[in-house]
Amino acid sequence: MRTWREYPAWLKGFSGEVPEERNTPEEIAAFEAATFHDRDKERRKIRVQAEGAGDAFRIVKTGDGYCVSGGSPGILYGTYALIRQLLTGEDVREGESRPSFSLRMLDGWDNMDGSVERGYSGRSLWFENGRFSYDRARIRQLGRMLASVGINVLCINNVNVHAPAQRLLDDMLGEAADFAAILRPFGIRLMLSVDFSQPMESSLSGCDPLDPEVRSWWERCAERVWSAIPDLAGFLVKADSEHRPGPNEYGRTHAEGANMLADAIAPYGGMLLWRAFVYNCMQDWRDTSVDRPCAAYEIYHPLDGMFRDNVILQVKYGPYDFQVREPVSPLFFGMDRTALAMELQLAQEYTGHQIDLFSMPPMWRELFDAICETHVDAVAAVSNLGRDANWTGHPFAALNLFAYGCFAWDRDSDPAAVIRSWIRLTYDFTEEEEEQLLRVLAKSRDVYEKYTSPLGLCWMVKPGVHYGPSPYGYEFDLWGTYNRADRNAVGIDRTAQGTGYVLQYPEKLRSVYEDPERCPEKLLLFFHRLPYSFRMRDGRTLIQRIYDDHFEGYEETLGMQRALEALPLPENDRDEILTRMAAQVKNAAEWRDVVNTFFFRFSGFADRDGRDIYP
Ligand code: GCU
Repeated sequence: MRTWREYPAWLKGFSGEVPEERNTPEEIAAFEAATFHDRDKERRKIRVQAEGAGDAFRIVKTGDGYCVSGGSPGILYGTYALIRQLLTGEDVREGESRPSFSLRMLDGWDNMDGSVERGYSGRSLWFENGRFSYDRARIRQLGRMLASVGINVLCINNVNVHAPAQRLLDDMLGEAADFAAILRPFGIRLMLSVDFSQPMESSLSGCDPLDPEVRSWWERCAERVWSAIPDLAGFLVKADSEHRPGPNEYGRTHAEGANMLADAIAPYGGMLLWRAFVYNCMQDWRDTSVDRPCAAYEIYHPLDGMFRDNVILQVKYGPYDFQVREPVSPLFFGMDRTALAMELQLAQEYTGHQIDLFSMPPMWRELFDAICETHVDAVAAVSNLGRDANWTGHPFAALNLFAYGCFAWDRDSDPAAVIRSWIRLTYDFTEEEEEQLLRVLAKSRDVYEKYTSPLGLCWMVKPGVHYGPSPYGYEFDLWGTYNRADRNAVGIDRTAQGTGYVLQYPEKLRSVYEDPERCPEKLLLFFHRLPYSFRMRDGRTLIQRIYDDHFEGYEETLGMQRALEALPLPENDRDEILTRMAAQVKNAAEWRDVVNTFFFRFSGFADRDGRDIYP
């Protein structure tokens, strides 16, 4: 059995482990700098110079190497950034660097029984059988991986707080504090997901946020929690969402609910991350007056400006739920007076389960570009980590975690440059091999998108599991996830004449999205209901475009497979990668045939090129 020590992820060029006696960011920075020097053929020296506190750092060239200065933990980020640049042979970026976002969070959806919600890399790295259970050396290595890309907050438990996770705030607090202590030297602070109805676990009969008893319950809770973990980053809350309890049950608004918790944790500097993933998950599919993507904006926009300063509204990047292609959530344009976090999902729930390749940097580039004129104050990403020896199930999925850190530090990151750094820090390839892998990874999202739901339609996955095709699987369900395909047309009209969703965007975007002639084609069926004969900009019909994408997506998957087979992948990764690639090829064929047949049966249009579509 292979162990995690054989999979240093992108820390290949680093020394084995950080010794236990290195126990502050400054000491760890000094250790990494010294071991780099020992291993470096050019014997370049890195002098580290700690100055106060803070995330920022400065790199300056010296006669025999470099000097990194910065606060704590900035000094650590600077040392890692420099070593990364030296190991990859990139030009060293001298001068000061500070992060785009002060909170760079990784959200584990780990349950205390050891399972991970939407986890595709094995069991939890830190929970098992209702307790903390971990390999201390591995958690230190995790801290190092996260610090090496500047991630500074780890939420350790699932947003769906299942028993016994409530005990993290209580009799398991001591164990949580021990765990926090392992990560602290790496500049990582813990966060805990809490359940809005937690007071009812003990003595109280309700959890109305305006009830003084509820308030004082949370105040006592905060006092206990922060005295055990004084640097706890805060609480993360999923309320009134998918059957989780929340303030609405008491006729209170989300501002009232969030502010009550925020007040309780404010004296300790705690942040309240309040998720905006709220919609009616018990919708009647017959009711066309309700359109799920409208929900979050309708709820939160009227509350803008009403949240306490230590509340951050955590918004998924799109209005649905981590789909392959969604427009950016309109909340990013409609909450000027509220702090916002953008939530990404590294766990490949809808994006191939860490079997199919799906590299996220190109998608994030689009997202951050879309919101370049708005304020976003923090970023969070659902973790893709687990107990598998290689950390992320698919060795290439580690790229998404690495890249997330890079984008969280610098939201203007260049996807290709990030992918290239990851390849260089992970493998020993020639330039040509590196380019080959870069090409595969850089286009993997486009390929996946082509063979799955077409043109922003979303939700054609198998219900529940969310892997593989089921075009009508969510059509008659409760989740607000419909495509309403019939023999004439497909999609939902979200213009002013339709559900009105498009009106939630500022004029600049609205005018583009509402016009089928200007709407980005990849989002066409998100915003519009169109006949199969609709003419795309290149003259093809919509139905032909759907067929073509599905055939091409499959062919391109085969191309990726050939490219990977030709690469000299290291022996410990090779089987894993090629086995998953073979599964992806099968999955792509299934998607192609199911989706094409689905539309062929409805529309009756034959493929222009006479390719196989099963009647
Ligand atoms: C998705 C996912 C759930 C998760 C939810 C959330 O719907 O399927 O497992 O709980 O997102 O983000 O809260």
